[in-house]
Amino acid sequence: MNWTNTILYENVDAGLKMLPDDLVQTIVTSPPYFGLRDYSGITQDWPEITYKPVWYLDHHIKVPAINCQLGQEAHPTYFIGHLVYIFREAKRVLKDDGTLWLNIADSFSAGGLGYSYQTLHASPKLYTKSHSYKKAPKGLNNKNLIGIPWMIAQALQADGWYLRSDVIWSKPNPMPESVKDRPTRAHEYVFLLSKHPNYFDKQKSKMKKIFIVAVFFKALVFFLLFYLATAIYNDVQDSGGIGYGIGKFMNEIDKGRTESDTTSFKPQ
Ligand SMILES: C[S@@+](CC[C@H](N)C(=O)[O-])C[C@H]1O[C@@H](n2cnc3c(N)ncnc32)[C@H](O)[C@@H]1O
Repeated sequence: MNWTNTILYENVDAGLKMLPDDLVQTIVTSPPYFGLRDYSGITQDWPEITYKPVWYLDHHIKVPAINCQLGQEAHPTYFIGHLVYIFREAKRVLKDDGTLWLNIADSFSAGGLGYSYQTLHASPKLYTKSHSYKKAPKGLNNKNLIGIPWMIAQALQADGWYLRSDVIWSKPNPMPESVKDRPTRAHEYVFLLSKHPNYFDKQKSKMKKIFIVAVFFKALVFFLLFYLATAIYNDVQDSGGIGYGIGKFMNEIDKGRTESDTTSFKPQ
């Protein structure tokens, strides 16, 4: 089947499972942010998932099989587990030299208004059903920024992805937040991830072409200069002085031309 220009309106898990291996060159995704919004109706059955939260620990986290919406998990580690699970499927669909761009923002542990509402600017109406879970996750005090973007980035690293860059989506004109004890948050993350250390990069392949052309022209200029220098050097050897040598060299050229012209127009 030709998948070009095909839109699948599916739950992410079901949609990815419909696609064959090594199909796409790049994936750009912005999954629901943790604890922020109720996309009512999109609950799903998640299988039990085991993942490593960070590459430098041997410890694994086991997320039990549950039914919930992505982003509405009872604990951030469950949310990360579900994303790791989805990105395993995304990895299968991604070509070996492909890239994945993941946009994600952070969330606050409960306190005050609950989780971060920094993306409310998009459409406040859409957020009327926003998450009502206001208890901080076990082990974390209220009013803490959870660090979700780096939790997911590190879990994906530990799951075999190459984290190539953290791009800051800076918002020069963010929605003001009604907080008085911390700065308004005005950025999100876009992580660039790949399956392998080397991957297709348009910029890189363009630079490679430019490099090859530049090397060719440098070699050409070098060759011409070398040729000229050799000619001058030989001439100087014959004549005994640079100025005179160049002049003589030019004269020789002129002389040659005159002689051959004369030869071709010799009267019979
Ligand atoms: C943070 S928003 C990203 C919005 C997107 N960047 C845009 O500009 O439209 C998360 C999106 O994921 C969708 N979504 C939530 N749960 C999903 C699921 N299980 N499968 C597929 N899409 C889901 C939501 O409907 C929403 O459009």
